[in-house]
Amino acid sequence: MIVYLNGEYLPLEQARISPEDRGFLFADAIYEVARFYRGRPFHLSEHLARMREGLAALEISVDANFYTEAATRLLEANQLAGGDAIVYAQVSRGAAPRAHGFPPAGTRPTIFAQARASDPMTAVAGGRAILLPDERWGRCDIKTVMLLANVLSYEKARKAGAIEAILVRDGIAWEGTKANLFLVQGGVVRTAPNGPRILPGVTRGAAIAAARALGLRVEERPFSVPEMLAADEVFLASTTLWTYPLTEVDGKIIGDGKPGPIATKLREVLWEEFTGK
Ligand code: PDD
Repeated sequence: MIVYLNGEYLPLEQARISPEDRGFLFADAIYEVARFYRGRPFHLSEHLARMREGLAALEISVDANFYTEAATRLLEANQLAGGDAIVYAQVSRGAAPRAHGFPPAGTRPTIFAQARASDPMTAVAGGRAILLPDERWGRCDIKTVMLLANVLSYEKARKAGAIEAILVRDGIAWEGTKANLFLVQGGVVRTAPNGPRILPGVTRGAAIAAARALGLRVEERPFSVPEMLAADEVFLASTTLWTYPLTEVDGKIIGDGKPGPIATKLREVLWEEFTGK
């Protein structure tokens, strides 16, 4: 596998990052994940905009445009330009002796990117989710690599045989550990508004636009756990899942227990937009 590191393209085994890298020491880093079909990105400008906002929030001065060329070259170099692939990128504040304060001016940020084939698109079976307290920090809108709460919560879901953990704070079901969350009630599509409690998902935005284009009403308004459990449909949205229906949450069957028609339709619409098919 060929990866990108600080302007170079090299085999993964030769890519070296310092143990003093602040991404490693402090999770002082942001990341981004976008998807490409035959080399063509899905909503790249939104991914770049989110990366720019993350870099600005962390006060790391890197031009996010590195991503566009790195993605193209990585897809080519890894024979992924003909199919469905994901390009991960991460930017940290760089390596410096461990100290909480920012390192001296001139410390070079670490920029890494890697491409891999996406998991194959499958027919929707519907999945189960569990509920867990949202133990993340107060700026979930920044896509930092500080994902320990997400990792521990997701692992609990996996051990429980579920596909996701829905994170709950103040009685609100905000989102999953790695996907945004929607419900459908009486034909109205609802998802939490962008703000510090959720990641402003690119798929979330695309799903909202697709729902509106289908003539559906969309409300960006938080919902409680009881509202979610009583919904006709509940679904996740992310770069890796598209929209994905949940048929059971916290042991309660959602709707009639089958993948919901709106989640399924949105998944088809997004896939068509992505592949042009
Ligand atoms: N996760 N919410 C969280 C907490 C996420 O981590 C993600 C993405 C999303 C969906 O965002 P988008 O539609 O832009 O992918 C929502 C990525 C895929 C990950 O961590 O691998």
